[in-house]
Amino acid sequence: MTHLVSPSLLSVDFCNLAAGVQMLNASQADWLHLDVMDGVFVPNISFGQPIIKQIKKIATKPLDVHLMIVEPDRYFEDFKSCGADILSVHYEACTHLHRSLSKIRELGMRSGVVLNPHTPVSLLEDIIPMCDVVMLMSVNPGFGGQKFIENTYEKTSKLKELILKKNSQCLIEIDGGVNTENCKRLVECGADVLVAGSAVFASSDPLATIAQLKQE
Ligand code: DX5
Ligand code: ZN
Repeated sequence: MTHLVSPSLLSVDFCNLAAGVQMLNASQADWLHLDVMDGVFVPNISFGQPIIKQIKKIATKPLDVHLMIVEPDRYFEDFKSCGADILSVHYEACTHLHRSLSKIRELGMRSGVVLNPHTPVSLLEDIIPMCDVVMLMSVNPGFGGQKFIENTYEKTSKLKELILKKNSQCLIEIDGGVNTENCKRLVECGADVLVAGSAVFASSDPLATIAQLKQE
């Protein structure tokens, strides 16, 4: 499979949100990445269900919703009804991760687990069969525009090994500081989905940047 690109709307000009979504509709992007932050799990607050509902009305691609919130299970039905297609929760925020991922699948969404930079992939050994996506944070979550953490290359390779060992179809998604410089190496290490916020929206030609990220 060729890898996917999931631009993060956290870096869009929110006064022109519709234009940003339409640009992504017209681009080579595969998914739209939506960062939900509660100011508790991460030191920042972004947006929630009302905004996602509006985006769903005009987006022509799957919505890849990244929950950076405590007690995410309380909102699974809500995010389903807002139009989430892939719903990812943080390993660090879920005491009963198996239950959380089962619930996400039962609701008809693809299930994702996200690991903070300090959380080792070895902890996923017993949960991989329940994951449609594992997302590795390559920055500390909470803000766009941060510097890529270099250890992510090695972590991606380790995760790829684990997925192969488990005979799983789970996708590896990388989130944070991804750009046209590091995307090739990430794909070589096993990344299947690249999230990019500032690299796309701060670019003078977002369509060309997305095309470059697709091409590696
Ligand atoms: C950070 C978010 C990211 C963010 C990525 O907590 O999860 O999705 O939007 O932004 P960049 O690509 O600018 O690092
Ligand atoms: Zn994200």
